[in-house]
Amino acid sequence: MQIKELKLEDLHPEEFIERKVEEITSIVGSGSAINALSGGVDSSTVTVLAHRALGDQLKTHFIDNGLMRRDEPQRIAALFEELGVPVEIVDAKKQFFDALKGITDPEAKREAITQTFYKDVFRMLVKESGARYLLQGTNYTDVEETVAGIKRQHNILEQMGIDTKEAYGYTVIEPLIQLRKPAIRAVARALRLPEEIYKRPPFPGPALAARVIGEVTPERVELVRKATKIVEEELERTGAFQYLAILHEDKVTGMRAGKRDYGMQIEVRCWDSEDARTGSPTKLPYETLDILAERITTEVPAVVSVTYNITKKPPSTIEAV
Ligand code: XMP
Repeated sequence: MQIKELKLEDLHPEEFIERKVEEITSIVGSGSAINALSGGVDSSTVTVLAHRALGDQLKTHFIDNGLMRRDEPQRIAALFEELGVPVEIVDAKKQFFDALKGITDPEAKREAITQTFYKDVFRMLVKESGARYLLQGTNYTDVEETVAGIKRQHNILEQMGIDTKEAYGYTVIEPLIQLRKPAIRAVARALRLPEEIYKRPPFPGPALAARVIGEVTPERVELVRKATKIVEEELERTGAFQYLAILHEDKVTGMRAGKRDYGMQIEVRCWDSEDARTGSPTKLPYETLDILAERITTEVPAVVSVTYNITKKPPSTIEAV
């Protein structure tokens, strides 16, 4: 891998910001650029960095792929509007669900999401806006894991031999590619992003699709979305690195009101980790696990079984897909 990591201890956030603002300005020149904001630390940092460099030469979009958490597009767009960055929400739900129809293989799902983002949605946005550049928050861990063949991250292109200019008609700029999460948080903080953004637990690019085992349909995403809300509400105060709900493909026999109920399984994961490269399950109090089981099976009645993952990464990974 040719990219060299810029470690947290060697990072001077103010200097880094200044350098990246200059780089972005000089690459884009008098042209225009687009970027997609998801509200995660990485894309939020890129948005503010690029907005500082380009002002209204930058058009920021929130791609509503139908795979996000509840109310996320509106909430994030409103937060950035308050920071002075206009955000346009693009409704691409149909495109993503059409692309994911019938696919169960994890890598094929990732590929479908990647292609829909880059080939369909971004290409259309680029065409409409006349922009020639796409800014995105690829980080060092994304590249490392993709190159190592662990899991292809949805935003990795060049390292997989894809020339975006040739394939899609635009050039990708990745200002955070040398940084891991803790360093990106430091840059976000120096850019005066609100704490709720720079301290946010990571959230994967493929969004809730990374947490649906088997076919990703609107109904199955809605189910995991409801469970996610409960898990986030209950585990936020743990301060853990990341906590999530996963919908399993297999159904299991359960019972409700004295009758057989063949239902869904939700797996809860809660991780202690520094930078997502390795992780171990948080030793949650049993009472917390009890509340999670109770709330999920009551508030998401299609679910009859809730489990807690007790495996470390490796051999597990943080997400399920
Ligand atoms: P994994 O599941 O590979 O996740 O252990 C490592 C960290 O990266 C976050 N993340 C992603 N994970 N695909 C993923 O599988 C992605 O495109 C992606 N983007 C971010 C993940 O949530 C975890 O923190």
